[in-house]
Amino acid sequence: MYNLTDRQIVLGVSGSIAAYKAADLASKLTQAGVRLDVLLTPAAVEFVTPLTFQSLSGRPAYVDMFDTSSAAAELHIELARRAEALLIAPASATTIARVALGLAEDMISLTALATRAPIIVCPAMDPQMFEHEATQGHLETLRGRGAHVVGPEVGRLASGHTGPGRMSEVDTIIGALRYVLGRGGDLGGKKVVVSAGGTQEPIDPVRYFGNYSSGKMGYALAEAARDRGADVVLVSGPAALPHPYAVRLLSVRRAAEMRDAVLDECAAADAVIMAAAVADYQPAEAVGQKIKRRREGLSLSLVRTPDILAELGQREGLVKVGFAAESEELLANARRKLEEKGLDLIVANDVTAEGCGFGSDTNKVILLDGQSEEELPLLDKYEVAARVLDRVAALVRR
Ligand code: CTP
Repeated sequence: MYNLTDRQIVLGVSGSIAAYKAADLASKLTQAGVRLDVLLTPAAVEFVTPLTFQSLSGRPAYVDMFDTSSAAAELHIELARRAEALLIAPASATTIARVALGLAEDMISLTALATRAPIIVCPAMDPQMFEHEATQGHLETLRGRGAHVVGPEVGRLASGHTGPGRMSEVDTIIGALRYVLGRGGDLGGKKVVVSAGGTQEPIDPVRYFGNYSSGKMGYALAEAARDRGADVVLVSGPAALPHPYAVRLLSVRRAAEMRDAVLDECAAADAVIMAAAVADYQPAEAVGQKIKRRREGLSLSLVRTPDILAELGQREGLVKVGFAAESEELLANARRKLEEKGLDLIVANDVTAEGCGFGSDTNKVILLDGQSEEELPLLDKYEVAARVLDRVAALVRR
């Protein structure tokens, strides 16, 4: 799954109460197809056991570098050599210090010293320890060497204190790993603008015109583009989805705001993918006060919103991809939009088909580009995104 299948990752778990979350991380990474080797510090073993990780990853977990019954001592070199990334989660203050100073005192710091793979550090500790100059200095050193520091988040800690120190959510950490592994992919160095979600057109201070778009397709596209190296800008209408790691998120509400953001960002983009369900109409005038209930009915006068894809026009070097969500005449409507909006590719889907509606995690689409029509099976939205991006990558190269 994602760009994680068959990747060789080393997870270092150090001594923090957040170690229990590392079990979930190990489970999700293994389910995504990662070949995961887990290293624990002796302090981590006070919180969780190697057996926990062995059971989840299906591979041995290592603690003691002096254990003569295992090949652990030589193994760190081998693990360090074959690792595509070293993920340290949770990273305690002590482990951060050891790695920054190059002290090889346990399996994690040994491996960190021996590897040339990128290192992702996910701090977890009490706010006083995190904010201490020593820890901040070590993190700065690590960043200076190219390490990625993910989190910590601000929140309530196991100690009862509130502040920065909570390890980032497992999905955020996996997003960081996907980002790191994706660098140098076939969209490396390319800027991709993706729009997502539905727009909301205000009627009065408490009401709006909207649609059922969840944003899932657009967010999947943004993540999939990031996973193959693109610099991604996600222009999103209101959506109840987490901010994807290393994606620049511009939150908008109205079609007019989405237009401004997309046009701005496209000035220097290589590709734009309009997955958003943009409202076609907006109330002719914004009413400043709440419309009161009356005896008679209510008519609202509507005017057209800007057609963003059409306004983008044709620019040499900008690949334009649109979506056509239809409830009838799927291909005829999609072909017409491909032509009228001057698109390189359109992704057509029948929103009434099973597994394709707004909010579903799957989609069944046809890709049309003027020459050919490629019908894809019902796929997870990430897989649909990956197939769309295969085409985008080829178009960008051309
Ligand atoms: N789109 C846009 N600006 C709009 C409306 C739509 O850029 N004001 C984009 C959508 O993001 C999508 C494509 O155009 O990529 C087609 O959107 P759709 O709503 O299917 O097309 P419309 O042109 O609005 O046609 P209709 O609503 O009549 O189907």
